[in-house]
Amino acid sequence: MNIENFDKAVPAIEVNELTVKFPIRGGVFSKVKDYFTAVDNVSFSLPQGKILSIVGESGCGKSTLVKSLVGLVPIAKGDVNLFGFSVKNGKVGTAKDFVRVSDLVQMIFQDPFSSLNPRQTVAEILTAPVVARGIPFDDACKRAKELLDRVSLPTGAMDKFPHEFSGGQRQRLCIARSLMVRPKVLLCDEVTSALDVSVQAQILHLLDDLRCELGLSILFISHDMQVVRALSDEVLVMYFGHAVEHGAADDVLSNPQNDYTKKLLASVPTIRRA
Ligand SMILES: Nc1ncnc2c1ncn2[C@@H]1O[C@H](COP(=O)(O)OP(=O)(O)OP(=O)(O)O)[C@@H](O)[C@H]1O
Ligand SMILES: [Mg+2]
Repeated sequence: MNIENFDKAVPAIEVNELTVKFPIRGGVFSKVKDYFTAVDNVSFSLPQGKILSIVGESGCGKSTLVKSLVGLVPIAKGDVNLFGFSVKNGKVGTAKDFVRVSDLVQMIFQDPFSSLNPRQTVAEILTAPVVARGIPFDDACKRAKELLDRVSLPTGAMDKFPHEFSGGQRQRLCIARSLMVRPKVLLCDEVTSALDVSVQAQILHLLDDLRCELGLSILFISHDMQVVRALSDEVLVMYFGHAVEHGAADDVLSNPQNDYTKKLLASVPTIRRA
């Protein structure tokens, strides 16, 4: 499958009636007593080259939704299409002609430190995913150095370990690692919430630049409505596992239709001078 030639009109991600359930266990033998529905019948699509933000209160199922897209939690019902091809067993396409989901979609997590192996150097962290895909080590190093430059880390960083970087630098490292396999979609789960405001802004600018330069499509989870307003093309609002509102960012944030969205936006604190 040639991933450079996807039809531009099809959505990068299309999710139909997606449901994710977690078992509730109990009793002496820890038997499954019931199921908790964390994501309930959610449908949406992410157009290519756009940023869709998912918002909603803590525990409403945002992380579970994006994790299910890359197979980190199992899907109970519904289906996921990437660039018009259905996802099955971590693969996209037909049994004979497929690419792995991880070649197309990469996820970046909130805590950059816990998502980097403390025993590996930056060179090992960055090259491992592409060497595993059969790319020679020298070519992988060249790609790693280009990406370090792109995320504004010095090439000398290659021989360092994750603990030798600041929080913002580590998040840049995670972004560089996610780009090593040249994905088409990034899933960003609260990637800036562990960072201070000025570093947050740098990371957000970097993501927006990468979207423009590389044509990336981005699913972005955040609690920060100002960040969501500044960055998003579209917004999806979740409430107790359901998608309650979805539309253009300006429409949803300036003229919300759903009662929960209105309450969520009204709960954002504002600073007034006395
Ligand atoms: N592995 C799991 N096993 C059982 N329940 C889980 C699991 N992962 C998440 N849940 C439950 O699913 C619900 C949704 O969790 P999720 O992490 O998706 O919320 P969230 O919207 O990302 O919240 P936050 O904004 O705090 O990150 C929560 O009630 C959580 O307790
Ligand atoms: Mg979460």
